[in-house]
Amino acid sequence: MLILRWLAFTLGALVLCALGFVGWVYAASEAHFRSFSAPSAFTHPIPENEASIAHGARLALTRGCYGCHGAALQGEVMWGNVQTPNLPALARTEPPAAFESAIRHGIGHDGRALYSMPSYNFVRMSDQDVAALIAFLRATPVSNEAPPGDLAPWFERTRGDFMIRLEIAKGADGAMPRFLNLGPPLSQQDNPDQRIARGEYLAMTSCNECHGMSLRADYPWPSNAPDLIVMSAYNQDAFTRLMREGVPSSGAELPMMGPVARGRFVHWTDEEIADLYAYLTDMSRRAVEAESPD
Ligand code: HEC
Ligand code: HEC
Repeated sequence: MLILRWLAFTLGALVLCALGFVGWVYAASEAHFRSFSAPSAFTHPIPENEASIAHGARLALTRGCYGCHGAALQGEVMWGNVQTPNLPALARTEPPAAFESAIRHGIGHDGRALYSMPSYNFVRMSDQDVAALIAFLRATPVSNEAPPGDLAPWFERTRGDFMIRLEIAKGADGAMPRFLNLGPPLSQQDNPDQRIARGEYLAMTSCNECHGMSLRADYPWPSNAPDLIVMSAYNQDAFTRLMREGVPSSGAELPMMGPVARGRFVHWTDEEIADLYAYLTDMSRRAVEAESPD
């Protein structure tokens, strides 16, 4: 009898400890999620004309929103446990400032830090482009194909969420707002060669997603994408082919860059490809010069 009581007591104490631990992890991470200060409210007007909406549509294509938010931007499951929201639906309930805050600052509409939304990639996006993107999302029909919140199995989502919280409790944290300022500010916007200025803007709001904060394979996390100093080996025709067909100068099949180019970069205009080429070759020339002894 005594043994049974003792066992029940120990078991109860263990359960209480586990609950206490989980509760503490939740409370500490919840406070942490909300500890990033919100940006000042985005007040740029949202255009309604067709040209701006079409421009926003191309931004969504070239910046890869579809890759994570789904073929109709309706939200989907990434990596088995991360749920992306339905963007056209959210655009109808949340004000533009909430969208800008998520896109450029990594803070969601509920004021909590985002984790897997790559805002470090969009932090240099212009007010005008952010407004065009929002205009496009507002004009995009809401797809009911996959209602947000219902996709990932509950257990998987909860587990994914708890792993992030556990990391925070351990003092390691991947909140998106922490990465925003790792990339350099744009440096070529006053370059007299306007192609270089425009190309820098395009590269630093798209290629920087995978090729490094300053396109030099300089990330605090592992990535297979090379330092874009390799652009010194590309002539304009070869680069155009890489953007349009996903095939590099070597002719090899690129497992990641190939599909990314065919899905996203085919939507660049000819002028945008020429601008990117001008900037990237100039950047790699400057990088090679800086690294050579004299
Ligand atoms: C690498 C994947 C990825 C890409 C690319 C991506 N997103 Fe997201 N996005 C996410 C994930 C995951 C979330 C949800 C939560 C999080 O970040 O932890 C999210 C959340 C959001 C939110 C909502 C935040 C909120 O709760 O208020 C908005 C708005 C958003 N994304 C817009 C965009 C737009 C616009 C683009 C393209 C310019 C884009 N996303 C590209 C993964 C991505
Ligand atoms: C979603 C990630 C991603 C994005 C975005 C991306 N790349 Fe890549 N890129 C890669 C990866 C990964 C490789 C290495 C080859 C592979 O695994 O496909 C690569 C390879 C390359 C190469 C080398 C090809 C060769 O000759 O072997 C060049 C040049 C390149 N990318 C240019 C760009 C440019 C320019 C942009 C922006 C317009 C860009 N990439 C955007 C992931 C990306």
